[in-house]
Parts: sequence; structure tokens; C-alpha cells
Amino acid sequence: MSPSLTVSRIAAHQGSVLRELRTASLREAPYAFGETLEDTLLVDPSSFDDTAALHATSPRLATFLLYTEGHSCGLVHAYIEEAPNGRAFVNALWVAPAVRHLRGGELLVNVASQWLAQQGVSEVHAWISEENRTAVRFYERLGFGPTGDRRAMPSHEQEAESLFVRHIHPDEDA
Ligand SMILES: CC(C)(COP(=O)(O)OP(=O)(O)OC[C@H]1O[C@@H](n2cnc3c(N)ncnc32)[C@H](O)[C@@H]1OP(=O)(O)O)[C@@H](O)C(=O)NCCC(=O)NCCS
Repeated sequence: MSPSLTVSRIAAHQGSVLRELRTASLREAPYAFGETLEDTLLVDPSSFDDTAALHATSPRLATFLLYTEGHSCGLVHAYIEEAPNGRAFVNALWVAPAVRHLRGGELLVNVASQWLAQQGVSEVHAWISEENRTAVRFYERLGFGPTGDRRAMPSHEQEAESLFVRHIHPDEDA
């Protein structure tokens, strides 16, 4: 039987859960992200407490956690740029290998998009490594398409990432 998967917004006291998931994702899928495990391990653990507290309540920044049977097994960040007419993004998406292909990634991106829509946003962006064919297929299946924008990946400058976008509306289903 498939495990049941649920998603909730991070709570202010979950800094250590955030650190655990972030380091697990950078260890397991270093090719996918703009930062490195080494950088993250150097960060003072208390800064994850600060991030969790902010992402639990901010109208501009949020983290959503995936759970199976009460255990955290994935995450996504959602944020809106601070500039006037700032764009909205999802990033840091990761689902633990043991629970992939069960629509946990889809649930995370849809819950994050629904939250962004509630903040008044009509488009969600994601930077995706061009080498990460799984993520490209995953986002395309969810209705994201390329904007044509490209840049070097912050963590691996020899590789490029492309900007994808999906249109959303306030009654977006999770
Ligand atoms: C991308 C990722 C989040 C998808 O999570 P998931 O929970 O497996 O995704 P879902 O079950 O919602 O959707 C899976 C769909 O994505 C695509 N997909 C996922 N893994 C795939 C793979 N290994 N090969 C091809 N397509 C894949 C397919 O369309 C797949 O549909 P299917 O399961 O019916 O074949 C997960 O593979 C992951 O964490 N990868 C490592 C980190 C990463 O790349 N993050 C994205 C950074 S931009």
C-alpha cells in the first residue's frame, strides 16, 4: 500500500527539521541546487531556527514540508521578491528517494503555488538546472514552461539553469 503523503507549512520551532531536510537534499541531489552541502554545513544551526520562524508566518516567504506517516520526507520554499511587482518563486524542492513517484513533489508545488496565489501572485517561477532532466519533466508535467531566461548555476558555474513559469489563480487546487 502507498504511504499517505501530506503537506503543511513549517512551524516556527522546526529549525532542526529544516536543517536536516536541507542537508539531506544537498547530500542526495547536489546537482539540483544553487548552494552546496559544504556551505550549508558551515551555517550556524541557529540560523535555521530563524528561517523556520520567519517562514512560518511571513506573507512573503514560506517553507512547506512533506510528511509520510508523521515523518518529514521533503520540502519546498516559496517566496516573493521584495522589489515592487516582485516575482514569485518555488525553490529547494526535494522529495526523499524512498517516497518518489507518489505525487509528493506535485503536492508540495501545488500547496506552495496555492499559498502564493493567496498572496495575490498570478505566476510562479522556478530555476531548473538544464542537466536535471527529471526536474524539467516534473515541472513541465505540472504546467510550467520555459521563459527563455538562462543563467549560470550559482553553485556550479559551468552548468546552466533555465527559468520556468506557471500561471496560477487564487482558487488553485492543491
Ligand atoms: C523532482 C522531484 C522533486 C519529484 O518528486 P516526486 O515526488 O517523485 O514527484 P511526483 O511523484 O509528484 O511526480 C513524478 C513525476 O515527475 C517526473 N519524474 C520524477 N522522477 C522522474 C525520473 N526519475 N525520471 C523521469 N521522470 C521523473 C515524471 O513526470 C513523474 O511522473 P511519474 O511518477 O508518473 O512517472 C524528485 O525527483 C526530487 O526530489 N529530485 C531531486 C531534487 C530535485 O531535482 N529537485 C528539483 C530542483 S529544481
